[in-house]
Amino acid sequence: MTRKKTAIITGAANGIGEAAAKLFAEKGYAVAIMDVVEKVFDVQKEIISSGGECLARRGDVTNESEVKSRVEEVAATWGRIDVLNANAGIVIVKPLDETDWSDFRRVTDVNLGGIFLFCKHVLPVMKKQKSGAIVTMGSVSGHVGQTDHAIYGATKGAVIAFTRAVAWEVAPWGIRVNSVSPGSVDTPMLRGDIALESKRTGKPFDEVKKIREAEQAFNRWADPVEIARSIYFLAGDDASFITGSDLLVDCGWVAK
Ligand SMILES: NC(=O)c1ccc[n+]([C@@H]2O[C@H](COP(=O)([O-])OP(=O)(O)OC[C@H]3O[C@@H](n4cnc5c(N)ncnc54)[C@H](O)[C@@H]3O)[C@@H](O)[C@H]2O)c1
Repeated sequence: MTRKKTAIITGAANGIGEAAAKLFAEKGYAVAIMDVVEKVFDVQKEIISSGGECLARRGDVTNESEVKSRVEEVAATWGRIDVLNANAGIVIVKPLDETDWSDFRRVTDVNLGGIFLFCKHVLPVMKKQKSGAIVTMGSVSGHVGQTDHAIYGATKGAVIAFTRAVAWEVAPWGIRVNSVSPGSVDTPMLRGDIALESKRTGKPFDEVKKIREAEQAFNRWADPVEIARSIYFLAGDDASFITGSDLLVDCGWVAK
């Protein structure tokens, strides 16, 4: 019997992670999903009712004992971990001089710390297999200066640097490590971001949305599945010669 490939996807209750979980399941992966919110079980139900295999748990990517247990559980259940999509992230949209130390700590803990912890605990399993692919989540904010996004952008720049270094570190075991850097993607995160900007500037939500859509060459936001497809590509054998790369899925934003 050929065993199914397996993927862990964090932050899979919403947005890009949810789309990635559904895509990997549709393509035949057994998927393990984790998120801080209860909605992760709704995503699990949808995947199972479409014929997919899915393990779902509530958990925080910044809690090392939870991360360790989740990884051990997946390895024990399915015997292998082929893919890690360390996707969970949060955004903070604030002028720097209004940003508290606690804001700084939380964004760096989740966006960089969560990726560090998942990679740390998944890598021993992948090293033992002598195979595996990790896809981390960068952002255009790691490439360009975005107003009121200094700390968020700093975490994403750090994720891209982290990804490059880990790629070299684990290449001897045949493990590939890449990041995806999306432009604007229509998810609860981005809509929350626009709502805050609209409140701060006094401009209507739709006006801010139009301005932010124009940062993409096609004048629109991505559907989460368009990012999920890039994650799927980097995680699979079609990307066998790609490691240490950051794939911009930003519709030309950084190229301008
Ligand atoms: N939406 C965009 O425009 C955009 C652009 C560039 C990069 N990204 C990145 O893509 C990733 C996904 O973003 P999204 O837009 O889908 O966001 P989202 O807010 O829609 O979904 C993120 C999910 O992560 C979960 N999460 C947050 N903190 C967590 C924690 N500590 N532990 C476990 N789960 C946690 C949330 O509950 C949520 O379900 C993030 O890393 C984000 O920075 C998003």
